[in-house]
Amino acid sequence: MGKRAQERKREHYYRMAKHAGYRSRASFKLKQLNLRFRILKRGDVVVDLGAAPGGWLQVAREAVGGGGFVLGIDLQRIEKLPHENIKTLVADITDSSTPDMIRQNLPHPPDIVISDVSPKISGVWSVDHARSVGLARASLNIAEQVLRKGGKFLIKVFQGELFDEFVGEVRGKFESVKVSKPPASRKGSAEAYIVAKGFKGS
Ligand SMILES: C[S@@+](CC[C@H](N)C(=O)[O-])C[C@H]1O[C@@H](n2cnc3c(N)ncnc32)[C@H](O)[C@@H]1O
Repeated sequence: MGKRAQERKREHYYRMAKHAGYRSRASFKLKQLNLRFRILKRGDVVVDLGAAPGGWLQVAREAVGGGGFVLGIDLQRIEKLPHENIKTLVADITDSSTPDMIRQNLPHPPDIVISDVSPKISGVWSVDHARSVGLARASLNIAEQVLRKGGKFLIKVFQGELFDEFVGEVRGKFESVKVSKPPASRKGSAEAYIVAKGFKGS
């Protein structure tokens, strides 16, 4: 896809997000992944890592309905959303106390951990890729500590030389693992989403 076509696509999703009242274009990536892989169910308890400004929280809340619960974690404070069953915490997912903090704020172990966490982009590809995989490992570590057996995990990773090794680590912990790039993700961006189902338990 050429640069202008990419810009048009970005603008298209920006307008759609604005129109739908979503806080980010990223909302459509989760919507598309959910449509394809059926990962969010009514009544689910969801943990969203790297959740600011809250686009995924909105889509997750729509999917789980009033009977579910969505907990968002980010380094940045997330402006309040108008639903009682969405809660947000300011925390660092690489901090060893974060899994406990998450457990204490949930009604029961989550059905799914989703993570759209991204490092601050330095512009040096190898550095950004390595940081992305580092944050993906931190997300996987949290998923392992909090998920219920049989639970699901969705994670964004910037592709590169460490990608296959990380997918292998996820395969070791889940029954089924797929890699996907939703249409709302720019062709030029190296991000890919790993969708894992059937947590084997810690
Ligand atoms: C692409 S944004 C997420 C967008 C979100 N899914 C949405 O739809 O609104 C990535 C987020 O990861 C967060 N982040 C980066 N490193 C983090 C860390 N160590 N702990 C918690 N959040 C982190 C950033 O602050 C940023 O808000």
